[in-house]
Amino acid sequence: MSLTKTFKLNTGAPIPAIGLGTWQSKPEEVYNAVKTAIKSGYRHIDTAYAYGNEDAVGRGIKDALKEEGLKREDIFVTTKLWSTFHRPNDVAKGLDESLSNLGLDYIDLYLMHWPVALTPGKGSLFPRHEDGSRDLDQEIKGDFTISYLAMEKLVESGKTKAIGVSNFSTHNLDILLKKANIVPAVNQVELHPYLPQHKLLEYCTAKGIHLTAYSPLGSTDSPLQKEADLIAIAEKNNKTVAQTLISWAVQRGTSVLPKSVTPSRIEANFQDYKLSEEDFAKINEISKKHSQRLVSPDWGVTVFHDDQ
Ligand SMILES: NC(=O)c1ccc[n+]([C@@H]2O[C@H](COP(=O)([O-])OP(=O)(O)OC[C@H]3O[C@@H](n4cnc5c(N)ncnc54)[C@H](OP(=O)(O)O)[C@@H]3O)[C@@H](O)[C@H]2O)c1
Repeated sequence: MSLTKTFKLNTGAPIPAIGLGTWQSKPEEVYNAVKTAIKSGYRHIDTAYAYGNEDAVGRGIKDALKEEGLKREDIFVTTKLWSTFHRPNDVAKGLDESLSNLGLDYIDLYLMHWPVALTPGKGSLFPRHEDGSRDLDQEIKGDFTISYLAMEKLVESGKTKAIGVSNFSTHNLDILLKKANIVPAVNQVELHPYLPQHKLLEYCTAKGIHLTAYSPLGSTDSPLQKEADLIAIAEKNNKTVAQTLISWAVQRGTSVLPKSVTPSRIEANFQDYKLSEEDFAKINEISKKHSQRLVSPDWGVTVFHDDQ
């Protein structure tokens, strides 16, 4: 079902519904994971500068394209601007470093990873003060619109086909949209039945911003694997909980990024299916019983306004 399933971005370009996630995939694992994924039919790979694996992801893409007889334009590649590159003069450098790591001339989607600027030049991607608090960039003073306007220039350069954001709340999107000349093509956020973010989905749909679901399986040691309603729906349909989660994500109109470095899981995760209206509605309601955000770094600034 997913080989041909795409969503249309506000740029007019298609984004494949299921993409391979690569956060916490070690370089030596992710090379094979990317190759297995492309061989299994995936045409969408998600990475980030901060994952420290762009180089291996890029090698995996290059070798898989060769082995499968595919072209660069057959694959949708996303990477992300890290928070220590938020100063306007550093934004283009951030993308150039990612392109060089990936060994690509362009990427399909460049996202601002977090609406948080960290002080550059501290020898760390995650700089902190001595008291342990985050070293937030005082030059940017929390104004992510400055960095976004610099990202807009990257589209003109042709080095990325589209730009977007990640971890943006409706509050931060309101601020961004007042200044932006280019409406973000995508907002990539945590989405799964314990955190369906129905309000954010409605907001982004109304503004023409496509939502991509991260941690769709519940991330590492997922509590969703033990969720009784999901197990019952999966068993009834003779599918796995992971396939059920991925199918629900696609059916609600979001692209979805299951991460795995296990070949059998990578293949199985690409086999989504059509949920009945009843099953779909039941999954939509799970968060009424239990709601949980799984990825929540201590940035020292409010990021997830919609949770309050
Ligand atoms: N923009 C952001 O700030 C942000 C934040 C988080 C994530 N992301 C993106 O979203 C992707 C996915 O999120 P995630 O990595 O947090 O977690 P996830 O995809 O929800 O879950 C990954 C975990 O599920 C396991 N798994 C995969 N397939 C499975 C299956 N069929 N059955 C049982 N377990 C399975 C994986 O193990 P194995 O690998 O060992 O198979 C891994 O431990 C990331 O990799 C990244 O690309 C973006």
